[in-house]
Amino acid sequence: MKIIRTIKELKSEIINIYNLGFVPTMGGFHKGHLSLVKKSINKCTKTLVSIYVNPTQFNNKKDFLRYPRNIKKDLKTLKKMNIDYVFIPNTSEIYKEKRKKKLSVHNRKKVLCGKYRKNHFEGVIDIVDRFLNIINPKYMFLGQKDFQQLFLIKKHVKKKFRVKIVSCKTIRDKNFLALSSRNSLLSKNNLKIAGNISKELNLLKKKIKKNYKYIKKINYYINYITKKYGVKIDYLEVRNERNLFNS
Ligand code: PAF
Repeated sequence: MKIIRTIKELKSEIINIYNLGFVPTMGGFHKGHLSLVKKSINKCTKTLVSIYVNPTQFNNKKDFLRYPRNIKKDLKTLKKMNIDYVFIPNTSEIYKEKRKKKLSVHNRKKVLCGKYRKNHFEGVIDIVDRFLNIINPKYMFLGQKDFQQLFLIKKHVKKKFRVKIVSCKTIRDKNFLALSSRNSLLSKNNLKIAGNISKELNLLKKKIKKNYKYIKKINYYINYITKKYGVKIDYLEVRNERNLFNS
């Protein structure tokens, strides 16, 4: 496994690899990340994983500073999996080229995280665009957990890059909570609460799927979950690829 820190070295290493799989990550690995890496290993001749906690996609400085980082453990895991390349740039390296024109993100109507996490998707699209310009992989592997991110990245790359996006299913914990690096910041009790909320939401989803009229109960559910678990809900909405940006 080769650890690469500069764009120049990266380019010279991967220049002739046609069937390259790319897994962009911010580190803090869990089984969700590993499932993306495994998919790439199975599908591609060579696999490149990036580990970079991208500051521009955080709308909250505290969240950025607290974001779980465990580079030693992550590298050990990747080595065991026998992947080919890890790219770990620092900020001055990856952002050294200034953009002449700001990238635009599809946001006719800001919804979900587009509304509640200011400039989050602008930061995500910018860094992914930078990676793809340098790496030009054949496939890029992303998790369905971040559905809105997946949707926006797919939209962005469609006309601009040759890359095909492989979307990979959400991996969940025993208690049904979707695996996420930030889960490691939760106390045992809060992890349990988060798992219970996930189960409640899954039940609600099933009810709505069975009978769409149930969607009218969503405000009731917001109140019910807020009160029962003592949490503050930013949003609870039912959306799919068709109505993600239309109302
Ligand atoms: O999903 C993530 O971990 C990040 O948003 C990504 C795609 C690696 C960009 O920083």
